[in-house]
Amino acid sequence: MRIDILTVLPELLESPFAASIMQRAQTKGHVEIYTHNLRQFSDNKHRNVDDYQYGGGAGMVMSVGPISKAIESLQAERHYDEIIYMTPDGEMLEQSTCNQLSLAQNLLILCGHYKGVDQRIRDLYITKELSIGSYVLSGGELAAAVVVDAVVRLIPGVLNDETSALTDSFQDGLLAPPVYTRPPEFKGLHVPEVLLSGNPKDVAAWREAEAYARTKERRPDLLEE
Ligand code: ADE
Repeated sequence: MRIDILTVLPELLESPFAASIMQRAQTKGHVEIYTHNLRQFSDNKHRNVDDYQYGGGAGMVMSVGPISKAIESLQAERHYDEIIYMTPDGEMLEQSTCNQLSLAQNLLILCGHYKGVDQRIRDLYITKELSIGSYVLSGGELAAAVVVDAVVRLIPGVLNDETSALTDSFQDGLLAPPVYTRPPEFKGLHVPEVLLSGNPKDVAAWREAEAYARTKERRPDLLEE
């Protein structure tokens, strides 16, 4: 997979991909991640990428020129399965969307700033608009990092233990059950007996029941679907 990210703050996107699983996914060749500074595509001598909004009002709007140039220069090189715009008014990010996106060859992600991008960019180029939650971030970069992380870890071969993405919360529509490691007793709290039983059938049944109970208590909305 190849992921291109358009941003005015490429430095914000360095560390999220420079450690742990995201770093290994790149060194093992599962994904190539490129960030592009939108200022490079500005004609203006101050490298401005925003302007006052028509109709007045507080807050700048990201201009069509640099974004359109950046997208078209990337599109000249390859086809993108999705051109994603990170925005609080987008579709809420769900595990099912991450699963779908993990099958893509090429993704392009546009990070919004200020009051957002000129609507014509959305009308002309964007194929998917994603929000990571009902709150407003200073820009789309951290949201883009969330999407990239959630998608890249699903690419086959990225996780060491191939089964571990399958047992994630949400993968089967349920939250994950509680987990324990040594010691068997800590400050008076004991690991549930069944997990020490060595009986895989009993363990599986316990985990399923716990996953269901946890989901019912914390995310009943997931059971209604
Ligand atoms: N940009 C600002 N806030 C955002 C959010 N909640 N999700 C996606 N992009 C954003």
